[in-house]
Amino acid sequence: SRQIRTARKAEKINGKIDPESPKVVTKEDLKEGDKRVYCRCWLSGTFPLCDGAHAKHNEATGDNVGPLIVGVKKS
Ligand code: FES
Repeated sequence: SRQIRTARKAEKINGKIDPESPKVVTKEDLKEGDKRVYCRCWLSGTFPLCDGAHAKHNEATGDNVGPLIVGVKKS
């Protein structure tokens, strides 16, 4: 079988969000006109929504992570 190489030793990404849960999943039903800015760096104090914490992380590490912005257009 083919082995997938990783650039670094595997480590946890999520350090604080719902640590007792076997898997952190969020489900939301959005309506027309709704807009959400979701965190993808796992550092937000308002997870799953972005609170801008990624900017401090990027500045400290040289990383380039940012949020997922989702909107539902009005028809
Ligand atoms: Fe995590 Fe913005 S705080 S993406």
